[in-house]
Amino acid sequence: MNNGTWTLLRRDGVSLVLAEHGPSGLPAVLHWGADLGPLEESDLDGLAGLTGRQTAPGTLDAAWRLSLAPQESEGWSGRPALLATRDGRPLFPRWEATVEQTGDAAVEVTAVDAAAGLRLWTRLEIGAGGLVLVDHELRNDGGGTVEVAWLEATLPVPKTADHLTSFTGRWAREKAPATSAIPRGSTVRESRRGRGGHDSPWVTLASNGTPRNRTGEVWAVHLGWSADVRHRTDRATDHVTLIGAGELLRPSEIRLETGDSYRTPTAYFSWSGSGLDGIADRFHTWMRERPQHPKTARPLVLNVWEAVYFDHDPVRLEALARKAAAVGVERFVLDDGWFMARRHDRAGLGDWEVDPAVWPDGLEPLADLVRSLGMQFGLWFEPEMVNLDSDLARAHPDWLLANPASVPAPEGLSFRTQYVLDLANPEAFEHVRSQMSTLVERLDIAFIKWDHNRDLVEPVHEGAPGTHPQTLAAYRLIDRLKADHPGLEIESCSSGGARTDLGILARTDRVWASDSNDPVERQDIQRWTELVLPPELIGAHVGPSPAHSSGRTTALAYRIATSMQGSAGFEWDLLSCTEEETEQITAFAALYKELRGLLHTGTVVHPDVMDPALRVRGVVAADRSQAVFTVATVASLEDALPERLRLDGLDPERRYTLRVRGEIGSAKHGWTTPPWLGKDPVQVSGRVLAEVGLQLPGLWPVQAVMFHLTAD
Ligand code: DGJ
Repeated sequence: MNNGTWTLLRRDGVSLVLAEHGPSGLPAVLHWGADLGPLEESDLDGLAGLTGRQTAPGTLDAAWRLSLAPQESEGWSGRPALLATRDGRPLFPRWEATVEQTGDAAVEVTAVDAAAGLRLWTRLEIGAGGLVLVDHELRNDGGGTVEVAWLEATLPVPKTADHLTSFTGRWAREKAPATSAIPRGSTVRESRRGRGGHDSPWVTLASNGTPRNRTGEVWAVHLGWSADVRHRTDRATDHVTLIGAGELLRPSEIRLETGDSYRTPTAYFSWSGSGLDGIADRFHTWMRERPQHPKTARPLVLNVWEAVYFDHDPVRLEALARKAAAVGVERFVLDDGWFMARRHDRAGLGDWEVDPAVWPDGLEPLADLVRSLGMQFGLWFEPEMVNLDSDLARAHPDWLLANPASVPAPEGLSFRTQYVLDLANPEAFEHVRSQMSTLVERLDIAFIKWDHNRDLVEPVHEGAPGTHPQTLAAYRLIDRLKADHPGLEIESCSSGGARTDLGILARTDRVWASDSNDPVERQDIQRWTELVLPPELIGAHVGPSPAHSSGRTTALAYRIATSMQGSAGFEWDLLSCTEEETEQITAFAALYKELRGLLHTGTVVHPDVMDPALRVRGVVAADRSQAVFTVATVASLEDALPERLRLDGLDPERRYTLRVRGEIGSAKHGWTTPPWLGKDPVQVSGRVLAEVGLQLPGLWPVQAVMFHLTAD
């Protein structure tokens, strides 16, 4: 609804109300959160009356509200949404805005300041699942050069949202949340790695106190951008609180000549009235509705990195392919080490040709064998990178995205001995594109594992900051390869999960969540990755024990249970498996194929539990006809008699049969076994499961149980 003054957007349990043009000329967001129903004009007047603000002594004279892009020209003393200069002089726009509703749940605001020669276009949309998307575009309609310092998306949250949860991490320990009070004033979290980074801010959450999984209101923002970002909160004493995010731009990175514009990456805002699971549900629903979302069953993968590393022996890899197919693998991926001079990680990047020194007959025999065994063939690339020890760098030293003074890198400052290729250079782009395209064609590659193993440090493109053009060029390269090779799937890997944002996910089909194949670490990494990404997009593989990344020994059942929580597979030399292990992983392959239809389309739930060593996660079918839950421990439980697990998300009116899925292997627990863990299925209503719950066994540390509920 839009009546010239008010705009009301509603979709999937969320309302967004825009109204009143403040002193900057832009409308304000009066409400973003729970659905308000179909409001009448008089309700809107009432809403204005209820939410109108006071003017306190010591503040501005007018009772204005923050606009959808707050700035200094409205008297806002927090962080502006837009900061720009023209030829070095500050810009304080006074906008004339027109608001046009485009469909039920989208609005476009076009704001012009003729005197300042600026046009700001903003689109707000409530997408499928109630996820709110915000895009801005700034155009220079005047003379001279407009330099954009930043242009960020913000939305207001109530003052009762006084806690902030932010993410950090490191290699093999991505996406670790930390909650604190929202600091007073304007606060930013920055990432300057030229990729998301293992410590990427990922999602900023605002909540009243520490957020819970299943209850309470939570507001979230995520930026769909694969490089430098800023996440921000503004908790002012004289205004509503804001959360927001935008691209981090270096000085002079965005210079707009007359007619040029800068479009921001999309900022995604998710509101939930049902805790963190409500946040995730909106992201998952929106992602699953995208036309490019993978439609086919997610294949069981074998990626050979931890099986052979750089030691490529065609005979052994063919044997591995045979074993994989026999177990039930559907996609065989040859990792790093197949191309020119790549016997270690110090050479070869940039020369995307099969090395005859290790593959004298090329990769065709392996790719053909893989296909003849009924599997897809996948291949690893790191297209944005180059080693100085490569034909490419020797021929084109000027194609590096770098500060020339840092090539070669000063002692101690190299990064996996590799450099970044300047993809915004059309010749460099074309070199990589054509080498990759030739191989995709020749080997009938179904899947690319697309890696990115270093930060961008001092990235210089044609003498200017290079992160922005590099990121767009990488996007273009993926888009072009996908357009030229319909059906090609791409996994975004960046030393594990350092690039998992919705910008890269707009054009890729899966992420490698972490290089940690330790399933205990993975429980949490995957749990927080699935705050945004649905599980079918999260690569999760069974590795060997002890885990290469941590040395921790775990039961195979636990590794399988953890892999089943994502897009499953192996990162393991299956030729080394014992007969018993082979039997167990063959059963796992069959179970994954049986359940993936549910696991990859259902609603993810994380019941709130008390014991800090417990990880409980389930997937409930959209029609609530079935569900799969996993109970895992990551340490020893506090109580000898653990808590009862109350299962949320089922249909209270239906009766379910609960069966333990012992195919993954059995878990070790206390001497007496709760009856539901025995051989005989238990039948009970969804209401009893939610209100009474089931008695958890005294699981030993690092054990997992998986059970399946099916409605009558
Ligand atoms: C880093 C990735 O995360 C690994 O899975 C593997 O592909 C290596 N790179 C290969 O160099």
